[in-house]
Amino acid sequence: SLSASEIALVQALWTKIAPQADQLGAEALERLFLSFPQTKTYFAHFDLSHGSADLLAHGGKIFNALGNAASHENDLASTLSTLSDLHAYNLRVDPGNFPLLSHIIQVVLASHFPDDFTAEAQSAWDKFLSEVSTVLTSKYR
Ligand code: HEM
Repeated sequence: SLSASEIALVQALWTKIAPQADQLGAEALERLFLSFPQTKTYFAHFDLSHGSADLLAHGGKIFNALGNAASHENDLASTLSTLSDLHAYNLRVDPGNFPLLSHIIQVVLASHFPDDFTAEAQSAWDKFLSEVSTVLTSKYR
């Protein structure tokens, strides 16, 4: 689990992400679909054109779920329990897609917050996204 200083780094950047969660989340999805086109198969029902309402709404949902997780870092399993059920039982997202999204989110953060996204901040975010992904893929077995 994350140390107190790692949690502080994640939460500090989250305060800057929060006001633009929809836009940053939409950008993450666009980058995900361009770099890893196979991930589009889960979103066949979405309008995937640049800046679409679907991308903004869904991007915001993903990022706000991360913000919520960031404030419940010590209780991730119960905080993310409903989302974990959804991804495993309903959506059946292949767990191999989670590291792809985690990578892309770090690219978005690095490009928008170059001063904040220090090596230490990246390391904390990498660990945080890995923990969130572990919870979201924990119910597949
Ligand atoms: C839905 C978060 C990873 C595919 C959702 C929702 C949230 C969310 C908050 C909306 C749930 C609701 O409406 O109640 C996350 C987080 C992830 C993650 C925090 C990892 C950091 C992924 C990955 C994929 C994926 C890797 C596939 C590439 C989907 C799909 C939906 C969904 C297809 C349903 C979209 C719709 O029809 O509205 N996710 N997700 N998720 N997620 Fe994820």
